[in-house]
Amino acid sequence: MTATTADASKDRVVIFDTTLRDGEQCPGASMTFEEKLEVAELLEEMGVDIIEAGFPIASQGDFEAVQEIARRAGPDVTIAGLARAISGDIARAGEAVRVAKRPRIHTFVSTSPIHLAHQMRKSEEQVLDIIAATVKQARNLVEDVEWSAMDATRTPIDYLVRCVDAAIKAGATTINLPDTVGYAVPEEYAAMFREVIARVPDSDKAIFSTHCHDDLGLAVANSLAGVMGGARQIECTINGLGERAGNAALEEVVMAIRTRGDVLPYQTRVETTMLTRASKLVSAVSAFPVQYNKAIVGRNAFAHESGIHQDGMLKNAETYEIMTPESVGVKATSLVMGKHSGRHAFREKLKELGYELGDNALEDAFKRFKDLADRKKHVYDEDIEALVGDEVAAASERFRLLSLTVIAGTGGPSKAIISLDVDGTHITKEVAGNGPVDATFNAIKAIVPHEAKLSLYQVHAVTEGTDAQAEVSVRLEEDGKSVTGRGADPDTMVASAKAYISAVNKIAVKRQRQHAQAAV
Ligand code: KIV
Ligand code: ZN
Repeated sequence: MTATTADASKDRVVIFDTTLRDGEQCPGASMTFEEKLEVAELLEEMGVDIIEAGFPIASQGDFEAVQEIARRAGPDVTIAGLARAISGDIARAGEAVRVAKRPRIHTFVSTSPIHLAHQMRKSEEQVLDIIAATVKQARNLVEDVEWSAMDATRTPIDYLVRCVDAAIKAGATTINLPDTVGYAVPEEYAAMFREVIARVPDSDKAIFSTHCHDDLGLAVANSLAGVMGGARQIECTINGLGERAGNAALEEVVMAIRTRGDVLPYQTRVETTMLTRASKLVSAVSAFPVQYNKAIVGRNAFAHESGIHQDGMLKNAETYEIMTPESVGVKATSLVMGKHSGRHAFREKLKELGYELGDNALEDAFKRFKDLADRKKHVYDEDIEALVGDEVAAASERFRLLSLTVIAGTGGPSKAIISLDVDGTHITKEVAGNGPVDATFNAIKAIVPHEAKLSLYQVHAVTEGTDAQAEVSVRLEEDGKSVTGRGADPDTMVASAKAYISAVNKIAVKRQRQHAQAAV
């Protein structure tokens, strides 16, 4: 599906999403194999041109995820795998992406004096030889090779021009000039592209790309400036996820291009009405909340609170709205259903929210919806999304919550009595703890023993009101890897138990995959 109908008067800007690589590599944002596939599927459906699916040499898990995403990808999307300028990395990336209909190897090397002296310990001439050799190796494996000059914005321009020239001569088809440390300001970033493009003799043989980090809050502005300087690919991530302060946010660059066509005469292929869904999915699987006032996808991005603004909005929405909420996938009203809504209306609502469930899953979700509607006066879209997200995640799990009673208060240690279904057997434990959450998690651990450490426990209310559902995210870490579990329920303790159990299930799946690999 593509968003914008092509407009011959506007240059196309290619959107390269690196949520699954630069985004996933930031501390605490790791995703499971299944979560990566889900994100990739949504990015493809949304019309992203290139998905950087991971860093295949980093681990067997990364390799398999990139390979599976490549295998599933259709003909309109390119799947890229990242590789350092090392022969083994490039071979591994090539192996992972070659099953894609449009495979790309993305290889990079540092070019700035500070990186050459302290990280690479190589001379400029040595790095030029490395560029030629590694790009050539990649080109022998795939037609589409991207080369990145890491720390380009702190590289002297004369040397940068020589590096880009070497990469294009060796066969690179895309040249990425990253602002790796988020140091550039828009004017100089644009000027860098202009000068490199003007001075490299064969610059027309490659597409130039931006890749900006947000350390000074300038990633989106720099990316757009890069395009004005001649780049035609933007590397970005959903919600701006990424190393340190993150990368340029995909939803922001896409909406800036769409909204300000008067000064940014470009177009992308992204279906913008899917941006909110993509943001919610990435926030949920990474357990990185989206700040309320975040541009485009924040909860308040289209909320008008002050009297003057509300008055203007009622008279004409354009007084204070430069784009419509619908254009980014926010529904005009999210008050939807109640306890009298039937199966048919529920199915239609799910379709509208983008969920297609099989008959059994639909029946389960409907029961849960009725149960929720009995306990909560208004059921909003957000409630249904939380409920179905839970349902889909729980479908293939080994451990399921059957019941939970928690005793807490001022009178002493808290106590949790919990029953789980463990591979078809019902097990009940009663365990104390320092507060209700501790007691609940201890009780689960007593039934499913494990050594994983809790590194994140986060609660947020799905909607307003004291009867709102709590959505809980839990991150567990084991052997340097982390998994994130989610759970939603009007009872915060039940939501917490569900989130913890979901994370424990993911650990079990990880262990199973590791055993299967060891046995091969
Ligand atoms: O920020 C950066 O320089 C990168 C490269 C690997 C492209 O992420
Ligand atoms: Zn980066």
